[in-house]
Amino acid sequence: MKRILIFTVFCFCLVGEVMAVEISRAVMLSNSCAACHGTDGKSPGAIPAINGKSSQFISQSLHEFRDGKRFATVMGRHASGYTDKEIQLIADYFSSLP
Ligand code: HEC
Repeated sequence: MKRILIFTVFCFCLVGEVMAVEISRAVMLSNSCAACHGTDGKSPGAIPAINGKSSQFISQSLHEFRDGKRFATVMGRHASGYTDKEIQLIADYFSSLP
């Protein structure tokens, strides 16, 4: 019984660890957007703010920019560097911001 308990706690720690790594990776990837979209996506200028937009919208936009389906001055080039998985992490991160 005690062994099972210890094992369960161990598993939860492991899951927590993996989630923390994913979150900091999302933050790291999303930092490159701040130069244009502002800190935490809260743009102070003409470039659209992206904080709090739906994950679906951000993800779809990045895919369209990347695949050249949507006109862009700079986003096409910027988005070309991300994998599907990274786009999902970035989209989830910005949609979680207030
Ligand atoms: C060099 C400046 C620059 C960087 C860096 C940049 N963007 Fe953009 N972004 C733009 C501009 C400018 C537009 C308007 C479309 C265009 O002309 O490319 C835009 C448009 C967007 C849009 C569409 C917004 C809307 O309301 O239609 C999304 C979503 C977006 N960017 C997400 C991101 C994400 C996520 C990152 C980081 C991975 C990022 N951008 C990095 C400049 C930038």
